[in-house]
Amino acid sequence: MLNIGVLASGRGSNFQAIIDSIEGGYLKVKIVLLITDNPNAYAIERAKKHGIAHLIIKPKDFSDKDAYYSHIAKELKAKDARLVVLAGFMRVVGKKLIQEFQDKIINIHPALLPSFPGLHGQKQAVDYGVKMSGCTVHFVDEGVDTGPIIIQAAVPVYHDDTEESLSERILKQEHKIFPYAIKLFAEGRIKVEGRKVIIEGSREDNILTNPPLI
Ligand code: GRF
Repeated sequence: MLNIGVLASGRGSNFQAIIDSIEGGYLKVKIVLLITDNPNAYAIERAKKHGIAHLIIKPKDFSDKDAYYSHIAKELKAKDARLVVLAGFMRVVGKKLIQEFQDKIINIHPALLPSFPGLHGQKQAVDYGVKMSGCTVHFVDEGVDTGPIIIQAAVPVYHDDTEESLSERILKQEHKIFPYAIKLFAEGRIKVEGRKVIIEGSREDNILTNPPLI
């Protein structure tokens, strides 16, 4: 079974969606460790409730970014994690972790990349006036939300949407495509060729959800 490590900074609803997918039998992986940079992250309560080991690792306890991410990599390796899942980890991951887990770190972003990378992807979409937005699961490289795209889900954006209403609509899709991407990875169905991610078995798998415009 694939061992996964999760990094989260906040409320952890995506972390919960992964836990639920495992407990419901949809996802056959094991979460071996939750790491958070935030002692107040609600994700910690979720880990405790589900018997998942957790560590609070704060950047300010390290001399620099390299030392911080080397330590995180060491803790993940100690638990034999083979995939690192960024579930609302609010930092740009350092190269020390990326080098140790090449093509083995995935992130969820609340916009249709390459549009609206960085913070507040939902607000950026509302302010720009796009008619469609969504979420993206992608591999993590040293840029900000620039790695190869694994899967995306689209949702409509209405003229009276606020950051909150759009975030809620997108979040429902996040909770579907993130466990799904992990499942594809666990089944060995994901191949990276340059910028392109090939999902073996189905062309339709590339877009999981395309909700009707109602
Ligand atoms: C999500 O919107 C995710 O796309 C972004 O951060 C948020 C985390 O939410 N990267 P949660 O902590 O999983 O509830």
